[in-house]
Amino acid sequence: MNRRDFLAAGTAALLAPRLGWASSSQDLVAQPVTAQILPDDSPASAMWGYNGNTPGPELRLAQGGFVDVRFLNQINQGSAVHWHGLRSENAMDGVPGLTQDIVPSGGEFAYRLRAPDAGTFWYHAHNRSWEQVAKGMYGPLIVEERNPPDVDHDMTVLIDDWRMSETGVLAADFDSRHDQSHAGRLGNFARAIITPEAQLRTGDRVRFRLLNVATDRIFPVELTGIQGKVVALDGMPLTTPQDIADLVLTPAQRVDIIADVTAPEIVQFLFPTPDSPYVMGEITVSGANDQRIASPITPLPANEIAQPDLDAALLLTLTMEGGAMSPRSTSFSDIWGFNGQSGLTDKPFHDFERGQTARISLVNDTRFPHGIHLHGHHFFELNADGEPGAFRDTTLIEAGETRDILCVFDNPGKWLLHCHMLGHQAAGMKTWVNVS
Ligand code: C2O
Ligand code: CU
Repeated sequence: MNRRDFLAAGTAALLAPRLGWASSSQDLVAQPVTAQILPDDSPASAMWGYNGNTPGPELRLAQGGFVDVRFLNQINQGSAVHWHGLRSENAMDGVPGLTQDIVPSGGEFAYRLRAPDAGTFWYHAHNRSWEQVAKGMYGPLIVEERNPPDVDHDMTVLIDDWRMSETGVLAADFDSRHDQSHAGRLGNFARAIITPEAQLRTGDRVRFRLLNVATDRIFPVELTGIQGKVVALDGMPLTTPQDIADLVLTPAQRVDIIADVTAPEIVQFLFPTPDSPYVMGEITVSGANDQRIASPITPLPANEIAQPDLDAALLLTLTMEGGAMSPRSTSFSDIWGFNGQSGLTDKPFHDFERGQTARISLVNDTRFPHGIHLHGHHFFELNADGEPGAFRDTTLIEAGETRDILCVFDNPGKWLLHCHMLGHQAAGMKTWVNVS
């Protein structure tokens, strides 16, 4: 990651309008939009979004509920919507060719979402995602706790990068094989889109929901002007909130923070670099909150999750292979693969019996980091001592590293398992599992 990748930072007016579920049904319309990515006088870009905007609306629903979303596809490509991190019903997972037919241009699809877990999730296009997500087809999906924590502000912070051309509009080079065989299609302009637009007061308690919605870039993040704790990862509450240090979000990961504003003037979201940090977003602080009485930050209410049976776990290995400067020669059909296989075939990586616990060694035998995402489930990252750590849906594995995960496969259906660097997924780094 290096600073020269970036052209500039700034704060143009990209906002995700909030959309509560006033009724139990909602339209989500994929359509062409124009968006001003670079600040000031630069031109607007022709992009894709939902309901007239990129990012799409922030969808908020109540834990335990169902909601109907009628998806209408008005872009000139087939599409489908994936509800990332929601432990949904398989038929609603939004993966064309695996869980549903593609929704053609002009077509529609009725999604019925269920929300067993409270937390910070998101939705995004899942056809030609390396292009459709890069063009803006994503939005936050928030499932509210039955008893939400006591905060003065609940803010969503979408972190993204865009690759802008010399003329200041979104570059159109989505299918570059060079990008795909390296670190993916990295942008040259990054920003945190913070909603709602609000001012903070010193002493306010704030919940920040950080989401990395970039197609390929790993974001380290530093916050200034606050003091607080990380309370959830990938939507799932931590039993013990952790200090905010060395935050790194690989594409698709989320971090929930609850913090008190300590600064008198400004709270900043920084991309740390060795020389001078890059400001991705900031919020003005003005005045003081004299009402709030200092109190410790407590864990969020736990979601109900199946406990893994570590002793009875089935042992499996998933090896990431391929890419530029690959340490070994690979013979599969595309740039990347798992276990000697590139892309999807009729044969799943594994057929699980419903409720089975598996311990999977994720072996990164490549020269690049990968963020591995499993649909329909969360899994425990195993610590160095073999104990279950964070409960996530996407895990970052550095080049040459191995990480074991522990998962209870209790959601029946066909679930994608892939790298969420979308350029890598485009070039073969995906497989699927079956749970029956
Ligand atoms: Cu965020 Cu296959 O998904
Ligand atoms: Cu990858």
